[in-house]
Amino acid sequence: MNTTSRAQARPLGVLAALPQELGDLISAMQAESGVVTRTLGQRDYHVGTVHGVPCVVTLARVGKVAAAATASALIHAFDVEGIVFTGVAGGVGSSVHIGDIVVGETLLQHDMNAEPLFPRFEIPLLGRARFDADRALAATLADACERFVTEEGTALAAHFHTAMPRVHRGLVISGDQFVASAQAVGGLREAHPEALAVEMEGAAIAQVCHEYGVPCAVVRTISDTADEHASTSFTTFLTDIAGTYSTGILKRFLAAYAAQSR
Ligand code: ADE
Repeated sequence: MNTTSRAQARPLGVLAALPQELGDLISAMQAESGVVTRTLGQRDYHVGTVHGVPCVVTLARVGKVAAAATASALIHAFDVEGIVFTGVAGGVGSSVHIGDIVVGETLLQHDMNAEPLFPRFEIPLLGRARFDADRALAATLADACERFVTEEGTALAAHFHTAMPRVHRGLVISGDQFVASAQAVGGLREAHPEALAVEMEGAAIAQVCHEYGVPCAVVRTISDTADEHASTSFTTFLTDIAGTYSTGILKRFLAAYAAQSR
């Protein structure tokens, strides 16, 4: 696709729950193309081009309803060609540490339970509990994360006084709960042994995207391990470094996405 057709292409929706999780995306858009902001349902949708990709950037706010409503607006009011969600999550997998990155390949709502009418975790009438991220988007995202870690990982490791952050790919689980106890995260681990991370929006976006046939992908940086330290760890991570991750990942992802579309 040449520059003219890319400019006419359908935009990509880029979402986070909280402003710190978007990094510098809106200011980068402002510098590159200018930003036109449209307000719908108490959310500001920022329209412009960033790192070569026409995008609609917005904040979903927190939880599955907020995420689903925002995804629906991106699809209906902005005709997005795909949705990418970025933000932080609690680590669930035993090999997933604070500062690591998880790219969701499959997403599940861990608090859905319509038993005995439907099997545990199944979304009633959809006949499934798990929703797949778009393989191509997830692969481009994972590649951007690997390059981010290769290029900026030493500084991140120094920040955390740990080993280099790692990039994981697999199951992300979502629910309307901030998980903050060893007991609660232990219960999730038992129910979903392959779960890597827990958050509050991804699987809702994946469900809406599945229903409308819109590709989606989710990337999460691990801010805490969903135990008794979770709220302190989450707050510090959000203030100190969540933006550095999102900025570094999104700029590499969007540049690769633009190059693929040319
Ligand atoms: N997002 C970041 N940390 C989380 C946690 N512990 N539970 C749910 N969502 C989160």
